[in-house]
Amino acid sequence: MKVLVIGGGGREHALVWKIAQSPKVTKIYAAPGNAGIAELAECVPIKATDIESLASFAERNRIDLTVVGPESPLIAGVVDVFETRGLAIFGPSKEPARLEGSKVYAKEVMRRYRIPTADFSVFSEPHSAAEYAHRRFQEGAKGLVIKADGEAAGKGVFVVHHLDEALEVIHSLMEERVLGEAGARVVIEEVLVGEEASLMAFTDGATVLPMLPVQDYKRALDHDRGANTGGMGSICPLRLVTPELQQQAIEQIIHPAIRATRDAGIPFRGVLYAGTMVTEEGIKTLEFNVRFGDPETQAVLPLLENDIVEVMQAAVECRLDEVTLQWKPRYAVCVVIVSGGYPGKYETGLPIEGLDEAAQVPECVVFHAGTRREGDKVVTAGGRVLGVTALGDTLAQARGRAYDAVRCIRFEYMHYRTDIGMKWV
Ligand code: AMP
Ligand code: GLY
Repeated sequence: MKVLVIGGGGREHALVWKIAQSPKVTKIYAAPGNAGIAELAECVPIKATDIESLASFAERNRIDLTVVGPESPLIAGVVDVFETRGLAIFGPSKEPARLEGSKVYAKEVMRRYRIPTADFSVFSEPHSAAEYAHRRFQEGAKGLVIKADGEAAGKGVFVVHHLDEALEVIHSLMEERVLGEAGARVVIEEVLVGEEASLMAFTDGATVLPMLPVQDYKRALDHDRGANTGGMGSICPLRLVTPELQQQAIEQIIHPAIRATRDAGIPFRGVLYAGTMVTEEGIKTLEFNVRFGDPETQAVLPLLENDIVEVMQAAVECRLDEVTLQWKPRYAVCVVIVSGGYPGKYETGLPIEGLDEAAQVPECVVFHAGTRREGDKVVTAGGRVLGVTALGDTLAQARGRAYDAVRCIRFEYMHYRTDIGMKWV
């Protein structure tokens, strides 16, 4: 069968890598892909958000299954367009994708379905948001989290510790509209303290098949300092989330969210991802994403035994109850290498050395994110450049291998965190 993967980051490389292992698959296309993906798939220069062109491509090339990586096309309704044309596609349609597309909608679902989450209020007027922040700090709040309602490519969440900071964020989001319409409404919520865990599950709208729990490292610098990023590394499984805690999260978070989408008329099919905080009062929801995490996927898929194409087809055909997921009893660590300056400004077009050496490290795979080929060289083409994943019998072994491979790789201004997984070994 022929598979099309939409996207061109590290997550999509990991998806293509896993899909390529399926004996059912004869040909993979990626739109737009990257230099690493190009070794396994035919890359076609169509943007992930150009839904009409993607659907026409899939029709013309008789694609049997399309897999969507990033959130933007899902939120824009790529699944609805494909399904109208009778094309099989893995991912939620536009209505359930609102769980990620609107923070306000997600929080309202959490409230209505009693999904554990931080207390919150919603504001569409800057002065009432400011008044509220004022009052909360007066009442002794140690901090607040301010979230732009709309899609903001991970840039819409601000954790603030002083009133001045809160007022500045409210002003820039709601009045200056630095994130455009995403700032028309904001959610202001309490700060949760604990360990973050990413819980992803395959679902067909009825059956839920959880993946192993993953920890994502969001901050740019070691020891969780620096700016929030798309993710600087990941480890799997995160043992902090015991099987009991995971079961609790499935019952209290994942199932009610899926029920909410059923009640709203279109059940969720695809991967539902709950970003959670394990607090002293139990596990609470930070956000919902309607897709695989990046870089969570780079750590979780190498541990999956199943043919992922069979799992996705079963989800699309609403027969996920026929599938049991099997996991390798091992550990995976993914270290992301970024361009110096990321998540701010950075240079691109810099040649990358040492990729072949890195791939020689035992049980290691180098997933490409922002890379492209220039002649016989691979050069940088984005903020997150590579995700180096290694497996091991222990977390320490996986970590050691991942960093051995990272040290083989060189490009100008490269940066990576040195503490991925460190506190759990
Ligand atoms: P979100 O996109 O809502 O997951 O937020 C992005 C990141 O901001 C999360 O991964 C957390 O690191 C942080 N964050 C979001 N909400 C909270 C909260 N209520 N308390 C503490 N940190 C938060
Ligand atoms: N790693 C966080 C995300 O994929 O949203």
